[in-house]
Amino acid sequence: MGGHSDKQHPWWERGVVYQIYPRSFQDSSGDGVGDLAGIESRLDYIASLGVDAIWLSPIFPSPMADFGYDVADYRGIEPLFGTLEDFDRLLAAAHERGLKLLLDFVPNHSSDRHPWFVESRSSRDNPKRDWYIWRDPAPDGGPPNNWISDFGGSAWEWDEATGQYYLHAFLPQQPDLNWRNPQLKAAMLDVLRFWLDRGVDGFRIDVLWHIVKAEGLPDNPLNPEWHPGMNERDRVLQANSTDQPEAHAIAAEMRAIADSYGAMSERERVLIGEIFLPFDRLARWYGTPERPEVHLPFNFSLIENPWDARTIAGLIADYEASLPEWGWPNWVLGSHDAARIAARVGEAQARVAMMMLLTLRGTPTLYQGDELGIGQVEIPADKVQDPREKRQPGIGLGRDPSRTPMAWDSSPNAGFSRAEPWLPLHGDWPGRNVAMEEQDAGSMLNLTRALLRLRRQEPALAVGDYAPVAGDGTLLAYERRAGDSRLLVALNLGDAAVALPELAHGAERLLSTLPGEANELRGNEGLIVRLA
Ligand code: NOJ
Repeated sequence: MGGHSDKQHPWWERGVVYQIYPRSFQDSSGDGVGDLAGIESRLDYIASLGVDAIWLSPIFPSPMADFGYDVADYRGIEPLFGTLEDFDRLLAAAHERGLKLLLDFVPNHSSDRHPWFVESRSSRDNPKRDWYIWRDPAPDGGPPNNWISDFGGSAWEWDEATGQYYLHAFLPQQPDLNWRNPQLKAAMLDVLRFWLDRGVDGFRIDVLWHIVKAEGLPDNPLNPEWHPGMNERDRVLQANSTDQPEAHAIAAEMRAIADSYGAMSERERVLIGEIFLPFDRLARWYGTPERPEVHLPFNFSLIENPWDARTIAGLIADYEASLPEWGWPNWVLGSHDAARIAARVGEAQARVAMMMLLTLRGTPTLYQGDELGIGQVEIPADKVQDPREKRQPGIGLGRDPSRTPMAWDSSPNAGFSRAEPWLPLHGDWPGRNVAMEEQDAGSMLNLTRALLRLRRQEPALAVGDYAPVAGDGTLLAYERRAGDSRLLVALNLGDAAVALPELAHGAERLLSTLPGEANELRGNEGLIVRLA
């Protein structure tokens, strides 16, 4: 059984994070792209959900080659999104409503338009040359090693003017920063202070496990399981390009900065690390009590594994077992990079998935639009925006379907914008929007709100211990316990009815994903009952 429900829990352990993709939340300026004033105008909606913190995907000046994950100025606001004054207003307005605000810190790479890179590429002896990773060609004139960009193709780009290659783990427009350079490191750590001084409540840190590469940049080992049709990135295993011990030391420095702004208090600033690693290696990113690293290394296992009761029961057990005693768990079900959960498991099952996300032990991250149950979205070929899709078309890597605008009401463009949105809306938006779902007691939106309310009312759900009950066939069931309170969560991951676990019989029903009730767990039903 996992957990220590008797201790005091800081806000980021009790709370729920809501991810906003700013381009697609609310446009106020009429250019078809969301902005900060738009987000501010929707804060009451966010507060009404019952979440505790907002994480904003990048809002900094950017040429948008990777839609903001290519940062050209770490201390400014992209004009498409507004100004620093707009940001300060948004932050104050969020705080007034009791909402924390997290920014997206992108430390692995900048934009190629960042003044640092412009200088770095200007000559081999420029003082900022070493702020990025430059190497001579291999003896055959080709790239210095076999590393592959996450978006396909070599991770090295040739620079004719200075006769060297530079490294880019993502697009050529996203050159990797050299965290082994002390000046670069100091400049980047100062960026954290800049925003913390402005009052932000923490950061989600982009591809944190990438930030340091193995000394000497040796080739990555080949992946024996790679076959055509897979992401080209996976031709090699990223053993030498990611997860280096030196990166842990840097994460600890980031944490020390965050902690210097008020550790262990209601003002505690939180660091969430975007890290894709197996559990044993993921758990190391908590650091140690003496040298903590990130508060929450993102746990993407629900996204990465088949939707199957036995598999999920197994991964919950493995995850819980991997956590250090001081490590708080977390769960993610959707993001701007992953397929929509309702597209993956279907609309009916997405309700069960929402119950799972909001009742497992640990901090959940809820992705905008999942509370409406947005499912599959077809993006016509001429509307494709995502560079990952453009570089390796047709193998299912496109992220546009998860990035389509929020639908607020039945007015033109779903109330998202006066202009045509930068990406199309989901096809069923006239019925699947906030205004329509608010009026429907059985909607995904109202289910999400009910789950968040129950989570807030029941310490067993928010911070309680976890104990597995069943993980067989299509039934996944577990208990959450705090003090004398015991709740059972029973989830049917299939569409045929199954028997309820014995201990649920006669128990008080608190919430079901389906209307009405039955003596069994109906197909696609999730049920929470009180045992004691
Ligand atoms: C992870 C981000 O979530 C993704 O959207 C981006 O493309 C890469 N990191 C590169 O920054």
